[in-house]
Amino acid sequence: MSNETARGRLAELENTLETIATASPSGLAELRNEILGRKAGKLTHLLRSLGELPPEERREIGAAANILKGRIEAAIEKRTAECESADSAVGQSEDLAMPARTLWRGNRHPVTVVVDEICEIFKELGFTRVVGPEVETDEYNFTKLNIPLDHPAADMHDTFYLSPGVLLRTHTSPMQAHTMEKYQPPIRIVVPGQVYRRDPFDPSHSPVFEQIEGLAVDEGITFVDFKAGIDYFVKAFFSKDTKVRFRPSFFPFTEPSAEIDVGCPLCKGSGCSTCKHTGFMEIMGAGMVHPTVFDRCGVDSEKYTGYAYGMGPHRITMIRHGIPDIRLLYENDMRFLGQFVE
Ligand code: PHE
Repeated sequence: MSNETARGRLAELENTLETIATASPSGLAELRNEILGRKAGKLTHLLRSLGELPPEERREIGAAANILKGRIEAAIEKRTAECESADSAVGQSEDLAMPARTLWRGNRHPVTVVVDEICEIFKELGFTRVVGPEVETDEYNFTKLNIPLDHPAADMHDTFYLSPGVLLRTHTSPMQAHTMEKYQPPIRIVVPGQVYRRDPFDPSHSPVFEQIEGLAVDEGITFVDFKAGIDYFVKAFFSKDTKVRFRPSFFPFTEPSAEIDVGCPLCKGSGCSTCKHTGFMEIMGAGMVHPTVFDRCGVDSEKYTGYAYGMGPHRITMIRHGIPDIRLLYENDMRFLGQFVE
């Protein structure tokens, strides 16, 4: 090795100081081996070869090489310390006590919860849960239920017609007709399902909403059975001390007809904005099955009597939770739905 070569190598090794200053932990290990390694380290090799140089040069280059060795060792040590403290800084920013991320758990929609509860209560009274088609003919939706086609409910403004005579059911009552045509009494059914009306989407209306229909037909069913059945349901669903009020009303398919109010579950009857300070909330339409409906559906109206009811689970869900706007029940906003975790 000439002194020229030795100086060139020293200069080259001095340049590695910069690389060391920014090296990664694994890069540092490699550099240490490459420069200071006992067998193949470049500086080690240079120091070992000093004997090949003339004595005057040997002393000078030897001294420079030893100083460089010290600087490289110091630089590696400094960079190692930096890397270690960066590592422990990452450790400090991790909060080991932080709770794990919540896993989303599937949950029934609050309206589904209400539908299931209502059907369960009627099942206790011997009603069978059934479902029916959402696409109906005007015959089942109206005529068989004693609603003339020129009745306001049959008007184009309330009904979504798909083609002449074919429509989206405006209520679940067509299932009364389907069931009576198919099965002879005794009949006890509870029918949840979606219904459609040409209504605006506003705080209290939706063009699609849920209904639950009920129908009981048998020999000797009286208004007392009707009242007792509804009363049982209201007390089981709301609470034992809930007041029930039957108000005279009109539906073409029931006679007599009633609208049923319950004591406002929010203010317990003392009056609040939800019940418009009346102390009561309407929850369903109902009545004794009209003999004309029996006649049109093939049930002997001389032998059998019965009662029917129809209620709106969206409305009941709103009453139960004090929800001010029906649209909240359709938007599927998890911030809203998350409040009803069962
Ligand atoms: N079908 C009626 C409605 O949608 C409710 C009802 C059902 C009334 C059964 C009486 C008997 O308003």
